[in-house]
Amino acid sequence: MARSLLLSMTLTVLFIGVVSARDWNILNQLKGTTTTTKTSETAVVSLKGPNLNGYCESWRVNVELNNIRNFLVVPQECVWFVQKYMTSSQYEEDVERAIDEAVLYLGKTCCEKKTCDGMDAWIFDIDDTLLSTIPYHKSNGCFGGEQLNQTKFEEWQKMGKAPALPNMVKLFHEIRERGFKIFLVSSRKEYLRSATVENLIEAGYHGWSNLLLRGEADEKKSVTQYKADLRSWLTSLGYRVWGVMGAQWNSFAGCPVPKRTFKLPNSIYYVA
Ligand SMILES: *[C@@H]1O[C@H](CO)[C@@H](O)[C@H](O)[C@H]1NC(C)=O
Repeated sequence: MARSLLLSMTLTVLFIGVVSARDWNILNQLKGTTTTTKTSETAVVSLKGPNLNGYCESWRVNVELNNIRNFLVVPQECVWFVQKYMTSSQYEEDVERAIDEAVLYLGKTCCEKKTCDGMDAWIFDIDDTLLSTIPYHKSNGCFGGEQLNQTKFEEWQKMGKAPALPNMVKLFHEIRERGFKIFLVSSRKEYLRSATVENLIEAGYHGWSNLLLRGEADEKKSVTQYKADLRSWLTSLGYRVWGVMGAQWNSFAGCPVPKRTFKLPNSIYYVA
């Protein structure tokens, strides 16, 4: 008797689980609305209730956790959400927490001026780490809803008008003044070098040791491989890479594994 009660309770829980997972799937909800004359876009707007909010926040968090990988575009029903987050004060708060942790880590662990031999290194990504691409997405109005038009994006990068991320200039100089060599590792192409340098200086960055961009040979590799190869190269020169800060998981993947990684939020695009 007790066993069958337990069994039926288990089944009930399972059943509720199935039902709520269904409810939660926004695509099913959208199917339900196709019988009306609404376009799917207005249907999405009318569904911006707690369910869609919850679904999109969960999608975003799972991108940050690296559970969701290789997405080509942000799910259509969540583009508004990603836009809202990436332009919110919450995004800025989240970046600031990452910066705080990096400062804390530097204070505790890393080289002190008196013991520095010039071989302590730090790696920064550029896009959505030192420089923000948000203005590009704002002016194109799609925030990941369409695949990035590489030509158009590079035209924008070439204008050199990207602003710094909040508080990042301060972190950059703090790391530099502690005696670290700063290496900028970016998947930007080599031909964008002078635009990139001008943009970085304009935004307040200076004094890096090397700016590493993707040459033609590197374009044949995945970005992940390219970045890992550069870390190998730095290590082979004797550098100790204390930390890597970036907005893509590809900045940390592969060997050698950095001592610490600082992932900044970015749910607009995924580069493998
Ligand atoms: C990408 O942008 C370029 C330059 O703005 C434009 O000429 C081209 O048509 C765009 N490509 C697509 C697929 O939208």
